This record gives sequence, C-alpha cells and structure tokens, in this order.
Amino acid sequence: MSETFRKFLRTLPDFPADLPAFDPGSAPQDPALLFKQWLDEALDAGEQQPHAFSLATVDAASGGGPQPSSRMLILKNIDDDGWHFATSRTSRKGRELTAEPRAAMNFYWPRLGRQVRLAGTVTGLSVEASSLDWHERPRADGTDNPNWQLYALQPREIEFWQAAADGRHVRHRVGPDGTPLE
Ligand SMILES: Cc1cc2nc3c(=O)[nH]c(=O)nc-3n(C[C@H](O)[C@H](O)[C@H](O)COP(=O)(O)O)c2cc1C
Repeated sequence: MSETFRKFLRTLPDFPADLPAFDPGSAPQDPALLFKQWLDEALDAGEQQPHAFSLATVDAASGGGPQPSSRMLILKNIDDDGWHFATSRTSRKGRELTAEPRAAMNFYWPRLGRQVRLAGTVTGLSVEASSLDWHERPRADGTDNPNWQLYALQPREIEFWQAAADGRHVRHRVGPDGTPLE
C-alpha cells in the first residue's frame, strides 16, 4: 500500500508550465504592496480563495517542548497593526495565542506557483473592531459573540517565493520595511 501510494504521489501534477517571472529588484519595496499585487494576480488567475492562509501557532511548552498546530483562516486586513485575522478566543488557536502570542502565516497560490510566508508577534485588536468583523461575516445572523477576537500579526520577516519551470525558484525575504534579509 505505502509503495503504491508513494508511486501514485509521484504521478500528481507539478507546478503549471506557464509560471510568471518574478524580479524582486523591480517589485514594490513595501511588502504589503507587493502582497496586494500578488493577491490581485492570484484572483485574476482564478484562485478561489486567494485570501485564505494557513496559521501556525504553538502551545505552551510542556515536557517535550512546544507543539505546533496549523489551520486555514481568512485574511481580514493589513494596516499599521499588522495582518488581521479573526477567530474565537476560546478556540485552540485562541488559547495558544493567549499563552504564546507568536505565529506564522502561509499563503499559497498554486496556479501561479507562489507562496508568501510571514512570522511575527500577534496582538488582539479592540472589542469594537472584533465586533465589526463578527457582524460583517457572510452568514452573520445579528447575534453577538463576545469570544470573537480580531488579531493582528506584526511580521518580523516576510518571504515571497516564486516557482520557476527550470527549478530556479526565486526567494525574496524581507523585513517589515522591505529591507532584504539573509
Ligand atoms: C479556507 C478556510 C478558511 C477558514 N477561515 C476561518 C476564519 O477566518 N476564522 C476561523 O476561526 N476559522 C476559519 N476556518 C476554520 C479553521 O481552519 C479551523 O478549523 C477552526 O478555526 C478551528 O481551529 P483550532 O481548533 O485550531 O482553533 C477556515 C477554514 C478553511 C478551510
């Protein structure tokens, strides 16, 4: 079974052949601006939920050290506070963020062979902003949810990654002001 499955995985499609070129030198220096450009291009390429990302958190370190966990979320905004997302404060991720307010985000747009990943510290935004986000949800029914929390991740590092058909993938890693990092 595992041998058959291993071979099956090898037959699955790779990146599409017609990938865009990415030249970090001519891209916007502001990472938020470059991200918005890539998000627009992902939408134009037909990505269904280009604003969906994986959020990784860790629990409070116990005997074996911290245990990471991840799940998909929806990006709500980007501003001076950081990159916004919302969830229940009492959820696993909510509890983990209370104990350890650091996280990593990962966006992936397969049609363009692009990935954006961020890591940094997370703060909870105001009750008013959280309530507004709750009521703006597509299936909002008018009820309040006092546990709903809007968070902002302030990235320390942001990496833009572009796959290339010849395997010469481009990695552009920057600080929050766009300064290239090693
Ligand atoms: C594409 C997608 C988007 C999602 N967006 C959110 C979201 O914005 N907020 C949220 O709380 N859960 C969202 N979920 C559900 C989470 O992935 C997760 O199952 C849930 O929040 C519980 O996670 P936890 O137990 O790790 O706290 C989304 C799931 C998918 C697949």
